[in-house]
Amino acid sequence: MLIHSASQVLTLAGGPQRGDRLGDLGLIQDGAVLFRDGRILETGPSQELLRKYPDEEKQDAAGKVVMPGFVDPHTHVIWAGDRSAEFEKRLGGKTYLEILEEGGGIISTVRATRKASLKDLKDQTRDRIRNMFKYGTTTLEAKSGYGLDQETEQKMLQALLELDQEEVPDIVITYLGAHAVPPEYAGNPTGYADLLSQELIPSLASWWPTRTDKPLPYVDVFCERGAFDLPQSRQILEAAREHGFPTKIHADEFENLGGANLAAELGSASADHLVVTSKEDIQALGKSDTVAVALPCTPFGLAEPEYTPAKEILDAGGLLAIATDINPGTAWCESMQFAAALACRYMKLTPNQAIAAATINAAAAIGMDGIVGSLEPGKRADLLIMDIPDYRHIGYRFGTNLVRSVVKKGQFYLGEEA
Ligand code: NIG
Ligand code: FE
Repeated sequence: MLIHSASQVLTLAGGPQRGDRLGDLGLIQDGAVLFRDGRILETGPSQELLRKYPDEEKQDAAGKVVMPGFVDPHTHVIWAGDRSAEFEKRLGGKTYLEILEEGGGIISTVRATRKASLKDLKDQTRDRIRNMFKYGTTTLEAKSGYGLDQETEQKMLQALLELDQEEVPDIVITYLGAHAVPPEYAGNPTGYADLLSQELIPSLASWWPTRTDKPLPYVDVFCERGAFDLPQSRQILEAAREHGFPTKIHADEFENLGGANLAAELGSASADHLVVTSKEDIQALGKSDTVAVALPCTPFGLAEPEYTPAKEILDAGGLLAIATDINPGTAWCESMQFAAALACRYMKLTPNQAIAAATINAAAAIGMDGIVGSLEPGKRADLLIMDIPDYRHIGYRFGTNLVRSVVKKGQFYLGEEA
């Protein structure tokens, strides 16, 4: 298949984009993309590829932008229950952490997720994953973390493994058993951190290969006041590392506890949120290969004024990505386009920077940059035909879906071409 005559093809070629290199779109005016058997073969000027491959099946993308599918590298897309009442409480003045401390927030989703059957959990989650796909997300990360007991966490992981098989987008799975202190350990986070590092993580390392051939999932920790402090986070992530898991961390969403520095030290794939990160921690991240994942839908969802300091991270030479953080508490947002629009306004990214942060750098945050995130020979043919003449419409426009067609592994979905 040859998609040709696109007003712009954004290849994002050349690997993850560090510091002030962020925003190199690899733009081809009047461009074309050739793919076969689910993989990209070539990109280049339309005239050249049309001449070279005259007999190829063709798709005219005149007046449109062709780009890699979005990669959403931080989501809590799997949950059961409803937290709309909590939204109303927050509008009335209660804070997110106050609600969590009263046993609401994450813990209320835990109660509902524990009760849900595997089928119910999958059905609710499937709807959200399909919405994400319609908005152009072709690869997403998804975290467990609303079970906080072995049985429910395994149910969540099993549901994600099945949804990855059944649904079109690829799902990269993360175990977030350390999302909150479960009710059974209320007031005893140390006890739960011990349980995680001595029992739950080792037993996950033996359970996982009985369910799938995939490599071990990421292990993530919510390092925050009211969740896990820095020593507990270190203990959990070190145990994960010892058992062969790659790691991630939620750091500095509300308080600066040093989680970003810990991620850099441990060689974690990413440190995420990073709203109140200290200058020292930003320097440490900048020198590391740990991707800084900003989640602009979260302060927006909480109506809080502070966003991830993108300029400081880029000045320090860091790798910056963006994600939706879709979850029932702080940010129910399925759209990477909307995350990009927020990143432009509140993190002061330019549209080309937001696009790189949402594709190739986002892929790096979940170890997928060799496979997706750019249109380069050999990579998966995961691409979008956007109903826009210029890439700057991404970021500039919000609230409508700019995706015309989604191509996943070389197959057309949605749009007139499907
Ligand atoms: O990334 N910070 C922790 N986890 C989510 C919120 C989860 C929830 O409230 O259910 C987040 O914002
Ligand atoms: Fe999160």
